[in-house]
Amino acid sequence: MNSKIPIIKMAKNHFVDLYNKSGDPNPYIEHVSGVEKIVGKILKDFPEADKNILFIAVWLHDIGSFLGERDVHEINSEKESRRFLADQGLDDDSIEKVAHCVRAHRCGNVKPATIEAKILAVADSAEHLVAGPYINMMHKYGKEFVIGKLERDFRDIGLLPNIKNDFTRLYEAWKNLLEIIPE
Ligand SMILES: [Fe+2]
Ligand SMILES: [Fe+2]
Repeated sequence: MNSKIPIIKMAKNHFVDLYNKSGDPNPYIEHVSGVEKIVGKILKDFPEADKNILFIAVWLHDIGSFLGERDVHEINSEKESRRFLADQGLDDDSIEKVAHCVRAHRCGNVKPATIEAKILAVADSAEHLVAGPYINMMHKYGKEFVIGKLERDFRDIGLLPNIKNDFTRLYEAWKNLLEIIPE
């Protein structure tokens, strides 16, 4: 492999390609582009974080959504990331680092253990607060579910307490809105 930069582009192309083929109606490209933007902002506070690992993980973290059940997409995303990155000739250490970010992004049974994984998990949740999929989700899943989702998003942003402060007003605004909006 000559450079790590093309691999970020390759990861993006792979994600966009699978998304387009999937026919999934959800705005994943907007979501991941939004996550990428927020990661770029958070990185200014964490110069020690590995940017290449992070931006590769940004583009692969939700790819498993097009490869099986949405409920376990982090597992399928990890599997596909390992396969794809080995295919691209990325070194084993970097593959492990990306795979951990991808696997831990939902803060489920695998929690983010590295600064890169924490930044991705925070940016993923923060993007929900910025883009606000809550209203649409409410029509589908009900108010209780979306308020729970909002709470989990804000809780996970707390992995980086300083960043959480930046999103407190937005969280409070969504919470007020979701509470008063008719179901
Ligand atoms: Fe996800
Ligand atoms: Fe995501």
